[in-house]
Amino acid sequence: MSRDRAALEALDREDPLRGFRQRFALPEGVLYLDGNSLGALPRAAMARLERTVVEEWGEGLITSWLAADWMEAPRRVGDKIAALIGAGPGEVIVADSTSVNVFKAVTAALSLRPERSVILSETGNFPTDLYMMQGIAAFSGGRVRAEAVAGDAVLGRLGEDVAVLLLTQVHYKTGAVHDMAEMTRAAHAAGALVVWDLSHSAGAIPVDLNGAGADFAVGCGYKFLNGGPGAPAYLFAAQRHHGAAVPVLSGWLGHAEPFAFEDGYRPADGIARFLCGTPPVLGMAALECGVDLMAEADMGALRDKSLRLGRIFMELMETHCGEFGFTLVSPREDARRGSQVSFAHPQGYGIMQALKERGVIGDFRAPDVLRFGLTPLYLRYADMLEAVLQIRAVCETRAWYDPRWKVRAAVT
Ligand SMILES: Cc1ncc(COP(=O)(O)O)c(C=O)c1O
Repeated sequence: MSRDRAALEALDREDPLRGFRQRFALPEGVLYLDGNSLGALPRAAMARLERTVVEEWGEGLITSWLAADWMEAPRRVGDKIAALIGAGPGEVIVADSTSVNVFKAVTAALSLRPERSVILSETGNFPTDLYMMQGIAAFSGGRVRAEAVAGDAVLGRLGEDVAVLLLTQVHYKTGAVHDMAEMTRAAHAAGALVVWDLSHSAGAIPVDLNGAGADFAVGCGYKFLNGGPGAPAYLFAAQRHHGAAVPVLSGWLGHAEPFAFEDGYRPADGIARFLCGTPPVLGMAALECGVDLMAEADMGALRDKSLRLGRIFMELMETHCGEFGFTLVSPREDARRGSQVSFAHPQGYGIMQALKERGVIGDFRAPDVLRFGLTPLYLRYADMLEAVLQIRAVCETRAWYDPRWKVRAAVT
């Protein structure tokens, strides 16, 4: 199939999602392939933040906790995210960061399997997931062990000692997708519970937590949900676990009656027990705009476009950059690929810096991976060609070779 500019622009004209691009404030001259790391700014968020700051905070002051419904925001936005990830109302709460929610979900799952001692994950999982389980194990004083094995060895390792399996559905570096239903079934058959990290899944691929029988899940608000820098994260707990899973982070807002100010902790009924402290109202307001926008999009159309963008990007890389030594690290097969395409290259860091200087923004993950996030709401098919031609230009001119990039920046 022809992949020239005219053919790609024709695809853009027929794209059922083409109207979404103008709902984002995208800078001129920038090709943004990093929405898997920090989503773009929904225009609605600018007005919403101004209203929240000027009217709700400035004028309403503390009365806005009730008058502007700040108090309900974690549940309200949680319910909206639930609809995107195959969860029911009252099963998702917005709170804290993903790291903290990993802690909350894993310790809750451990409390449901007191006779078992292992938290299992895969090597190469996103570091915070591994670090949090290592921290829990260290804090447990020897009762709990954290163990990570290669992805293809996870099912074989499920034994009578495994309490919790902690996996990321779409791998942050490669974009490879785990079969959530199959892994959950296998873990349950072995008597373990599963915590899914959906940071690269929600808003990127169809997710069906309840269809898969998932126990707990967590995920970021600032990636494909376009919730803004440092947006609060979310936590899913299947309704069947609400009664027995007792939070370890037993903060006052997860109490059954926070404003009774009792000395003793009594967990709230339902998902509210996974709240800990005061919600970040400004971040929540921005996140809600991103989630509302995502909720308008048809997930089938979104997935079709995401996969097609990926196929086109990979084909164009072969055609235009085949001689420059890139190795595809994302699965070529559609069913196994999330909404990103990654390549390994020995000069990956310099290539990405040179690309950013040319207005093509992706990111770099050590030791050698260039990640290109493909966000169907605001990317066009023709953008794939522009990006690949810029990658070619960087390689042809060896623009990646620059003394400025000898030292890596704090954020890559
Ligand atoms: C899979 C995954 N989990 C967790 C995180 C980190 O979440 P947070 O910084 O909100 O704790 C990331 C960040 O990129 C991620 O990719």
